[in-house]
Amino acid sequence: MTALDAVLARIDQNRDAAIERLFGLLAIPSVSTDPAFAPDCARAGQWLVDELNGLGFEASLRPTAGHPMVVAKAKAKRRDVPHVLFYGHYDVQPADPLELWETEPFKPHLSDDGQRIVGRGSADDKGQLMTFVEACRAFRETGDLPCDITVLFEGEEETGSPSLPAFLAANKDELRADLMLVCDTNMWNKETPAITTMLRGLVLEEVVIHGASRDLHSGMFGGPAINPIRVLSRIIAEIHDTRGRVALPGFYAGVEELPEDVAEQWRQLDFDPKKFLADVGLSQPAGESDRSVLEQIWSRPTCDVNGIIGGYTGKGSKTVLPAQASAKFSFRLVGKQDPEKVLASFRDFVRERLPSDCRAEFLSHGASPALLLPFSSEALARARRALHAEWGKEPVLSGSGGSIPIVGLFKKDLGIDALMIGFGLDGDRIHSPNEKYETSSFHKGARSWARVLDGLAG
Ligand code: BES
Ligand code: MN
Repeated sequence: MTALDAVLARIDQNRDAAIERLFGLLAIPSVSTDPAFAPDCARAGQWLVDELNGLGFEASLRPTAGHPMVVAKAKAKRRDVPHVLFYGHYDVQPADPLELWETEPFKPHLSDDGQRIVGRGSADDKGQLMTFVEACRAFRETGDLPCDITVLFEGEEETGSPSLPAFLAANKDELRADLMLVCDTNMWNKETPAITTMLRGLVLEEVVIHGASRDLHSGMFGGPAINPIRVLSRIIAEIHDTRGRVALPGFYAGVEELPEDVAEQWRQLDFDPKKFLADVGLSQPAGESDRSVLEQIWSRPTCDVNGIIGGYTGKGSKTVLPAQASAKFSFRLVGKQDPEKVLASFRDFVRERLPSDCRAEFLSHGASPALLLPFSSEALARARRALHAEWGKEPVLSGSGGSIPIVGLFKKDLGIDALMIGFGLDGDRIHSPNEKYETSSFHKGARSWARVLDGLAG
């Protein structure tokens, strides 16, 4: 029996206890965007510090201007092993809308068939980050760690990691490693692992259109008084053309065509766009009409309205002509699109469409570029072999529609490449009611990390 076999066997033995431990973390409502949950965020961070200290890491909770960071370090006894930095996030998205949850979001439990771990954060990202912690536990319980390991868990990923740049700048040396490992992405499907090599960037921008100096009676003023909701809706309607392209001037600068070998790889994947849409009750792709669904998610940029607010939205009716209206926008970026240029173009686009009695206020909620990792490296090759051994299938080298803004930051500031390996599924309902994580993802995820760490150590 090799050392790795012993580690894998230990992960199997620990399976039920590991799920119980994860429930402990899932029960803490660490919603980062809502200040009311700030104490819970700190509590989730401390929970991880305690957990990692228990595994022989030197772990501490580090204050920031926002929610605290968890930093932990452990060294292998063997010298000259690679040093990896594992990143995950302990914060979660709000559970809203609560009435659509079949069970309480922060009362984690197993589904009746035992196949799903249900609760907010189960897949994004608490269940995922615990796959790595459980792998470390098994190494510790059966022998030694195969690599030197630094762990960084943050509590603000879901709000765009506002405190991370300063924290990274102030702790460069402590966080430096040979390679970053990230577990916050998806598998190709339930049986097929994936390594994500492309992430879309993200620009988050809120616009408030102001009109009259106060809300008005829509009978007394309706007609002559400008309505900011109408102004805003017209602007929103003009952002896309009839072919689904974003009409902002210069928006597609830096968007590159896929290299032919990658495009070919994607065509070979057994992806069923009809099923992808049918799974969420849709039938007609609504993005750029001349692009495949996979391209629309992985390699093409988008603009979406995430929320729109204005006027009276309570029960019944109210004849009001509102003084303001606002909308929250998100742009997913690809290739070399420049977040600052996209933002500037968007603001000009809005300003140019304002009637003289309206003014626009802009609130920025973060901007990060897209990320493209090398398609071939020694670390990637080793990770591919490790995942193949666990799942019996070659992992898909995939893109991802989502964003993890900090991966680009580590590349830029520390020059560290990342291996993004995650065990989530498209159907996990992350950010939605009834979020779940497959028990197989959790268990085989831990086994996968054991193999990847072992493989990286050589
Ligand atoms: N884990 C997700 C990103 C993701 C989702 C990657 C699906 C691959 C597949 C991450 O936690 C996330 O949701 N990020 C946010 C970023 C943000 C709020 C700044 C996102 O993409 O919306
Ligand atoms: Mn998320």
